[in-house]
Amino acid sequence: MDRFVINGNKRLKGTIRVNGSKNASLPILAASLLTEGESTIKGVPDLSDTQHLCYLLERLGMQVTREEKGDIKLRVEDEMNCHAEYDLVRKMRASVCVMGPLLARRGRAQVSLPGGCNIGYRPIGLHLQGLEALGADVELIGGDIHLKAKKLRGAEVFLGGPFGSTVLGTANVLMAACLAEGTTVIECAACEPEVTDLADYLNKCGARITGQGTPRITIEGVTQLRGCEHEIVPDRIEAGTFIIASAITNGDVKIENCRLDHLLALVDRLRAIGVNVERTADGMVQVSSARRLEPVTITTQPYPGFPTDLQAQAMSLLCLADGNSVVTEKIFPDRFVHVAELNRMGARLRKEGPTVIVEGVKHLVGAPVMASDLRASAALVLAGLVAKGTTTVSRVYHIDRGYDRIEQRLNALGADIRRVPE
Ligand code: EPU
Repeated sequence: MDRFVINGNKRLKGTIRVNGSKNASLPILAASLLTEGESTIKGVPDLSDTQHLCYLLERLGMQVTREEKGDIKLRVEDEMNCHAEYDLVRKMRASVCVMGPLLARRGRAQVSLPGGCNIGYRPIGLHLQGLEALGADVELIGGDIHLKAKKLRGAEVFLGGPFGSTVLGTANVLMAACLAEGTTVIECAACEPEVTDLADYLNKCGARITGQGTPRITIEGVTQLRGCEHEIVPDRIEAGTFIIASAITNGDVKIENCRLDHLLALVDRLRAIGVNVERTADGMVQVSSARRLEPVTITTQPYPGFPTDLQAQAMSLLCLADGNSVVTEKIFPDRFVHVAELNRMGARLRKEGPTVIVEGVKHLVGAPVMASDLRASAALVLAGLVAKGTTTVSRVYHIDRGYDRIEQRLNALGADIRRVPE
């Protein structure tokens, strides 16, 4: 287990490139289980999560080859094994996105029910409800979900839950419906750009999907999908993390391969805080900020609202605002493990249910802190960049799940982060 030793109080300056999206790559790699022939997926980030999913796909009978520049070639070789075991699902929840493709293509799937996770309770009832509506038999045996269906049939599927839609649940039902007989309409579908990217990939494979990016997706079933070439959409959460890195260090950073149209809720809040985020003539995004940061209210919501995956990083920034901010989590009400760690660095955060009151302080001070989940770890690194003195972030394997060599890329902008084996 490595840790980061960060010497803070450095201003970031320069250009940084955003990689392909982790959360688009995972369901798209899984969707290749549905296809015949070869798919080439370009721009897949080299992360422990994507490596993990590739390993699972190999176990499920796929040949997976990683080429230069992040391209991954996939081809189904053997359709016998339909079991995503506990050991694999335990390491990465997103493994559940093989459920829809296995069921649709092989008529059965056995996927371990994911357990608890550091960002709170994460059920998959809506995934199962959706697949049942398409005709699957669902049974829980010994901690594994067993799904069976001789033939899936199109249906109207409602995917709204107490916290809005479900991203991976929409992906699972969408993938299964591609090979179902007849028409499926998903109501209250997730509108996240990662779902749109998945639908675009499937359409290139021969699927007939319309309405992606809206709450109603319609899928006309087809009998066969073939492999294709597809480039993964840029990672909006990585881009948002770099934008906040520039803002928190009062830096001047240009961000390449950044889809600002996928980040409008963040841009809206940053402008209210006093951070300038502008498109440049050469197609990049430039971030600079005033010295005085205004306090704001942030509420996370499903896309296009403020993303829960940027809540922790935004909180690090608000720690240094001139006044009191209010951050409310409406997707994962317990996603606040970073609060106690930021307080160790001199922040003044008070949690009240799903809300945190952030009382701005003049500066943060380096301290030993512990990473607990991917985005919370990113928030601690951002806090370490601006803190006075040295911050040690332990358990950075969490951050390696979602950001490829983040320390090297931030160091190229003037940060001072060393990776040290623990
Ligand atoms: N929910 C239900 N029932 C379900 C499924 C979800 O009530 O059957 C609830 C959840 O408890 C939560 C809300 O619905 O309150 C949204 O959860 P969702 O299912 O959309 O989350 P997910 O698909 O499991 C993806 C991302 C997460 C991201 C969320 C929300 C991937 C691999 N993961 O998870 O990303 O936070 O959507 O946007 O795409 C991350 O990258 O750090 C990460 C956690």
